[in-house]
Order: sequence, then structure tokens, then C-alpha cells
Amino acid sequence: MVSRRVRDIEYAIRDIAVIADQVKKKGKKVYHLNIGDPLKYDFKTPKFISEALASASHSGKNFYADSLGVYELREEISKFLKHKDNLDITSDNIVVTMGVTEAIYFLLAAMIEKGEELLIPGPTYPLYINNTKFYDGVPIEYELNEQDDWEPNLDDLRNKITDKTQAILICSPNNPTGVLFNEKKVKKIIDLAGEYNLPVLSDEIYDQITYERNYVSPASLSKDVPVIGMNGFSKAHLMTGWRLGYIYYHDPENKLLDLKEGIAKLARARLSASSIAQYAAIEIFKTKSNHTVEMVRKLRERRDYSYKRLRQIEGINCVNASGAFYLFPKLDLSGLKKWKNDKEFAIDLLKKTGVCSVYGSGFGKYGEDHIRLTFLPELSILEEVYNHIEDFVR
Ligand SMILES: Cc1ncc(COP(=O)(O)O)c(C=O)c1O
Repeated sequence: MVSRRVRDIEYAIRDIAVIADQVKKKGKKVYHLNIGDPLKYDFKTPKFISEALASASHSGKNFYADSLGVYELREEISKFLKHKDNLDITSDNIVVTMGVTEAIYFLLAAMIEKGEELLIPGPTYPLYINNTKFYDGVPIEYELNEQDDWEPNLDDLRNKITDKTQAILICSPNNPTGVLFNEKKVKKIIDLAGEYNLPVLSDEIYDQITYERNYVSPASLSKDVPVIGMNGFSKAHLMTGWRLGYIYYHDPENKLLDLKEGIAKLARARLSASSIAQYAAIEIFKTKSNHTVEMVRKLRERRDYSYKRLRQIEGINCVNASGAFYLFPKLDLSGLKKWKNDKEFAIDLLKKTGVCSVYGSGFGKYGEDHIRLTFLPELSILEEVYNHIEDFVR
């Protein structure tokens, strides 16, 4: 007695955790490299942010907030987008959501009719596939080319635009590849969207977690094409469990008026995002703190170590991450004959060593023959992990 809608949901990142629990019950130590949650490791929500949450509650901010978001928070986000990306986004072009997750739900609910298509990068974050299908739409993956350091294949993208396409989604820095798209490629995607009169959806959750190159906001590259940004507080401010994010509309030619009204209705229908989380988030913008910079410093060290170890393992090849906290190595399954596919490899690795990765095919067809590993744990744990992987493959 469950709807098709729900039956079809797959989420490999959490599905593999079920097997990890069985392994743990047998008394084996499990290394959770499957979940992109820094708070499961040695990263903590900065104290001033937690204190702001308590103080919001103590001072009585426990009511339903404005459905579009607390005005003062939207004002702060607007100033931040100007400062960070030189964007002119007024607060009435910002909607506060329960994370980027809800932002994606809202956008697809408002944009996708039965049989309509959303272009998403492949390999892909599973939520884009699940949500598009949830609304009876069709997710179409355009290729990220591993030979080209996982940059978008623009010919493939162009070939996949049809009269059913509703939008092109970008996710950079990318999950699962860990790659920050090249600015010129992003500009070309925006031009392509303009040519076909399509909006661009931009998942920017990792924008502040980059290594060698700096992030360039897609909206800042667009003169007239609507770019709908989705961002949040989960990763950069170590608040994954607070469930707070936002949508912003860069809409120079007012093409999104209906969509904006539709999303406002959806926001009203679900009352509001957490009010105390929103009041606390205001303090992030008013307080000088280097917690994000410090997090990136630690992550860079962990990435360098993980990449170095992975490269030394015969039968595994890997493009280095330029953002986020994932590596997405390719398994040479013609050499590693013992395993039929990435799922078998990941499950066997988990059962034999306790190292919990995510099988690449959980990120769509372009993810096959890969596994995703986070580099969130401390170096001493990563050392154990890579010793295990090395022994296992050998
Ligand atoms: C690409 C991407 N978008 C969105 C999310 C979810 O973000 P939020 O916590 O804001 O819902 C994640 C979480 O891992 C992600 O990797």
C-alpha cells in the first residue's frame, strides 16, 4: 500500500548505510566515508552560531516565521550575495527554505509537468533524479567527461535539449566528482540556455569549499538568462542538521514572475522554515569568523593525503577534487576481475574492511565503475582507511 512515487525513490548514500549497520552489528569498526556530513567527524558548529540559536529561542522567536523567510535574514543574504558574487539580488528575490533539499523540491514542483525534462549533470546527485521523477518528470543526464577532468560535455548537453526541456541544472563544485566547473564552460552553458530560452538552476551548496581555483557565480556571468541559485548553511557553516537554505532569483528580464508566485504559494502552504534557525543565521553575517576558511584548510590537507594514497593503488585512477569534499575514483574492473561492478566492489569492501563508500552507479549511469569517498575524516582515520583499501584491492 505505497504509492509508485515513493516506491521508486533510491538514495544509494543512505541505502549503503543499512549494510554498514549490519556490519557494525557483527562487531566490525565501520569507517563512514559515504555521507557528506562534516559534523559526523571533527567539525563542529561554531559556538557563536549555536549560542545565537539558544538565544533566539530564549528571547521568544519560537513562532512560525514569514513563509518566504525572516526579512532581516533575507536582507543579510542579499548583502552577502553582493559582497561575495557582486550580484544585485533584492530581498524579495530570496526565499528561505529548509535546505537546498527543499529548494529543489520547490523548484521542480513548480516547473515540471508530467513527461517534461530536466537536464542534470551525470554523474549526478541522486536528489535531482528522485525529485524529477517524483513530479512525473524525466531527468536527463548530460555527460561530465572524466577525461576532461569531469568538465561538462557541451556537445552532449546541446544534443539532449528537446522541446520538453524545462531547465539546465549546474552543480559546481560538484557532488559526486568534487570538481569545480571551469568558468568558460559555465558561461557556455548559460549561453546555450539563452539560445533555447531556458533558465539555469545552480546548486551552490559547496561554493565556499574550493581549493586551487576560486568559485565564480553562474549568475554573475549572465546578462539576461535567468539563473536560479540554491544555497544554504549546511556545509559552509557546519549546520547540516539545522535544515536551512535559500533560493535566489537572478532574473534581469523578469521572465520568472509566474514561477516566483508559484514558489511563494508552495512556501506559504508549508508555513515556514525554522524560525530560530533563521534568527541565528542572521548572526553569521554580522560576526567576523574564519570557521569556513579553517574548515577548507583542514579539508585541503585531507584531500591531498587521500588523493596521494589513491593514486598509489593499482587498478584505481582518480581525478583530484577542486572543491567540495569528495573523490570519485574509477575502478579498472578489467584488472580488478574479482568484482563484477562498482556495487559489488563497494559492498565487498564494506563487509571485509568496514570502509563504507558509495557505489558510483548510485549517482546514475555515468557513475558506473566508480566509488565515492569523502575526505572528511581526520588524517589518522584516513590513514587506516587507505591501508585497508590498499590491502583489499591487493
Ligand atoms: C549537491 C548537493 N546539493 C544539496 C545538498 C543538500 O543540502 P541541504 O543540506 O542544504 O539540504 C547536498 C548534500 O549533500 C549536496 O551534495
